[in-house]
Amino acid sequence: MAATEKPPVTGTGSVALDGLLTWVDQRFPLISTWKAHLAEYYAPKNFNFWYYFGSLAMLVLAIQIVTGIFLTMNYKPDANLAFASVEYIMREVPGGWIIRYMHSTGASAFFICVYLHMFRALLYGSHRKPRELMWIFGVLIYLCLMGEAFFGYLLPWGQMSYWGAQVIINLFSAIPLIGPDLSLWIRGDYVIADATLNRFFAMHVIAIPLVLLGLVMAHLLALHEVGSNNPDGIEIKKHKDANGVPLDGIPFHPYYTVKDILGVVVFMIVFVIIVFFAPEMGGYFLEYNNFVPADPLQTPAHIAPVWYFTPYYSILRAVPPLFNSQFPGVVAMGVSVMVLFVLPWLDRGAVKSIRYRGTHFKVALAAFVIVFLVLGYLGTEPITVWGQFGAWLGHADRATVAARICTLIYFLFFILMPWYTKVDKTKPEPERVTY
Ligand code: HEM
Repeated sequence: MAATEKPPVTGTGSVALDGLLTWVDQRFPLISTWKAHLAEYYAPKNFNFWYYFGSLAMLVLAIQIVTGIFLTMNYKPDANLAFASVEYIMREVPGGWIIRYMHSTGASAFFICVYLHMFRALLYGSHRKPRELMWIFGVLIYLCLMGEAFFGYLLPWGQMSYWGAQVIINLFSAIPLIGPDLSLWIRGDYVIADATLNRFFAMHVIAIPLVLLGLVMAHLLALHEVGSNNPDGIEIKKHKDANGVPLDGIPFHPYYTVKDILGVVVFMIVFVIIVFFAPEMGGYFLEYNNFVPADPLQTPAHIAPVWYFTPYYSILRAVPPLFNSQFPGVVAMGVSVMVLFVLPWLDRGAVKSIRYRGTHFKVALAAFVIVFLVLGYLGTEPITVWGQFGAWLGHADRATVAARICTLIYFLFFILMPWYTKVDKTKPEPERVTY
């Protein structure tokens, strides 16, 4: 259809606005996009609490980008100036402190939203056919997010920035043959230095955010291609009316735009309370050691990553070295994240939603969540946190033993999944959604 053949837009209540929208729509797919993705995108009518976190993750993404732009206006990516420039933002730049605290709190909020969002997928089988690709885009987003947080953490050039990056980059040198050269290449120098800071800045402010935005677009396009899953784990497209509208679907706008606004309001209340009253969150959101400028000559007594990385850090520490090389731990840590890619094919359950799964899956998922949290806690603490067993057990650190058991359960969750999801005694799924 030629552009001018499109029917005029009517019904906004204003002749001028109708005219403007008609003018735009005849030159740009305005109304068709609005319809396809909002007004006529039919989402299941039984969404619950767990469905808030996708839109909240998008909100946090926007917060991070906007606050990041303003931080960049005063931050100096120079090893001699970076730390002081952050202090300058906090003390001298009008509103600088709130911009910086929103950004640092936003980083943790991002991971909270994304972890809950991923857990929702496990609960309702949203990773399963036909949403595998969407899940894969999700895992890629998660990897980017980890990269983004890692690169950003070096920028304030505090003790934890410096030594945390030191620990992580050194892990690459444990890779046989190419390791030492690889870590040199990443650092751009023989030690973490100005060159490292400059390239991390480039990655943090432009390279990764661009990829992240592209992946979020792909994630949402894939969602709108196959349609949303729901707490019953059944496909609403199976039952449609004469017009092809799913019987259990409601238009995303206005129903879920309004629901998501409620989520945004509650989230923002909690968010600003943290920003105003507890931005450091007891050292979990902003580590105390990072208020000390980076000193390459003084290693802090206890180096721990920020909380969202600690489950993987625990896995790294739990695996014993082989021939004095940390490589097995590095592999275990890498596999513990990469295994998420194949999750859709490991799960062979007859039903998708936890509501109709049997005891096997429920126990496995509960065990997985518990060990993930325990690993997360252990990763924040020194390995001596729980003391040692007696001489009869070789004085092993209790926390290390606990981390090893948890690591084993973590991997068993995935390795045994094809078996326990298959033998699980599931309940019959309903034909139509319930609520
Ligand atoms: C920047 C991060 C992310 C953003 C902005 C985002 C955004 C969204 C949005 C808006 C939805 C639709 C609303 C909803 O179902 O809650 C969604 C659905 C979904 N996301 Fe994400 N997502 C992100 C990260 C991830 C990650 C890391 C994963 C998994 C590894 C993931 C897996 C999924 C799945 C499986 C669905 C479909 C859920 C269903 O239909 O039940 N997402 N995402």
